[in-house]
Amino acid sequence: MLELEQIRGDFPILNTQVHGQPLVYLDNGATMQVPVQVLRAVEEQYAHWQANIHRGIHYLSEQSTVRVEEARKHLARFLNAAAPEEILFTSGTTEGINLVARSFGEAFLHPGDTVVTTEMEHHSNLIPWQEACRRTGAALEIVHLTDRGELDTEEFRRLMALRPKLVAVTCVSNVLGTVNPVEELIAQAHQAGAAVLLDAAQAMRHRVMDVQALDCDFLCFSGHKIMGPTGTGVLYGKRKWLEQMPPVRFGGGMVDEVTARSATWGELPFKFEAGTQNIAGIIGLAAAVSYLEKLGIPEISAREDALLCRGEEGLRAIPGVEVLGSPARRAGAVSFNLKGFHYYDTARLLDQLGIAVRSGHHCAQPLLARLGLTGAVRVTPAFYNTEEEMDALLRGVERVASLAGGLRT
Ligand code: ALA
Repeated sequence: MLELEQIRGDFPILNTQVHGQPLVYLDNGATMQVPVQVLRAVEEQYAHWQANIHRGIHYLSEQSTVRVEEARKHLARFLNAAAPEEILFTSGTTEGINLVARSFGEAFLHPGDTVVTTEMEHHSNLIPWQEACRRTGAALEIVHLTDRGELDTEEFRRLMALRPKLVAVTCVSNVLGTVNPVEELIAQAHQAGAAVLLDAAQAMRHRVMDVQALDCDFLCFSGHKIMGPTGTGVLYGKRKWLEQMPPVRFGGGMVDEVTARSATWGELPFKFEAGTQNIAGIIGLAAAVSYLEKLGIPEISAREDALLCRGEEGLRAIPGVEVLGSPARRAGAVSFNLKGFHYYDTARLLDQLGIAVRSGHHCAQPLLARLGLTGAVRVTPAFYNTEEEMDALLRGVERVASLAGGLRT
C-alpha cells in the first residue's frame, strides 16, 4: 500500500476547506471521492475518443467500443466472472437490482412462490422485491434483525423451508456496517433451490468479490462507491439465468432483428443494455477498479477497519452517544445518535466544523424502525482518511454534546 500522503495527493478535493475549516470527509458510504487517475481516464475518453459504441465502423467508434469492451473484461476479471458476457453495465446498484427484480420476476415468479429479503436492506434491495411480488403474486418474506443488529440466521434457515425462488441480501449493512455471513446464506439458499442476489454496494472495498467462489447468482454494485464516476455500476449475473431472463428496457443496441411489429433480442450482454451507455463513465469505472487493485482490497479493508474501530471506540466513550448495534463484525459504517439532539442538528453542527457525515434514515427505514428510531448520524471512513480526521470527528461530537451547557433531554 502506498503512503497515506501519496494516496491523499491523488484526491485533490480532500484539501478543500468548508465553512473555513479543513474538510473532513466521512460520508464515503454515500459516495467516495474520485482520484485524479479516474478523472484523467474520463477526460481522455471525452478529449480523444468520444464516439458512440457498437454503432459505427469509423475509427473513433471502433476505438471507443474496444475501450468499453476492455472495461467489461477488466470487470469480469475483477469479479472472477466466468465470462465478460456476465457483466452488465448499469447506472448503479439500484438499476441492477431493479433489472433482476423485474426480469427474473417476469420469467420465474408466480403466485405461490416466495422471495426472501431482510430487514437490513437498503430500500433499493427491498422495494423492487415488494413490487416484483405485487406484480407476480409471489410472497415476500423478511428475515429480521437481532438486538445486536445482525441477521437472525435461525429465521433465515426456517424460511428456507419455504423453498424460495430467490433470496436478496446485502453483504454489508449501509447503516450498521454489519457484515453478513454470505457464504453460509448462499449455501443454505442453494440447498433450498433459491437463486441469490447479493447487494455488494457497501462491500466492494472490504473484500475481494469472487463471484465463482461465492457462487452467487447475481451481484450488484455502484461505481461511485469505489471511486468511479456517478451513474455507473455493474450487475453480474450467471449466464444460465441471464440467458433465460427477458430484457426490461427496449430500444437501440439490444436487438437482433426488428420489424414494424416485432423484435428479437441480441446476445448477452447487449440484450440488457438498451440505449447509449455511459461510455466515459464505464471507462472511468475501470480506472477506479485499477486504482483499487493497485492499493489492494485487503490493505484498504485493514486501514478502514482500524479507522472505524477508532471511531466506534471514541464515540462510545462520549457521554450521551448511543451507537447503533453491536454486530460481531462491522465494516465501513458506524451510526449513532446524540442524546437530546436530533440527528439532523448533530450533522448540521458537525458540518459547520467542516465534517461531512450522513444523517437521516439512510434509505433503510425498516432497519431504523426495528431499532425504534427514525434516523441516525452515520460515519463512513475510507482508506484516505487519517486518524487525525477521525479524532476531529470525535472532538466535533464532544463539542456538539457540550452545547447549550450540557445535554438536552
Ligand atoms: N446508498 C448510499 C448510502 O447508503 C447512498 O448512503
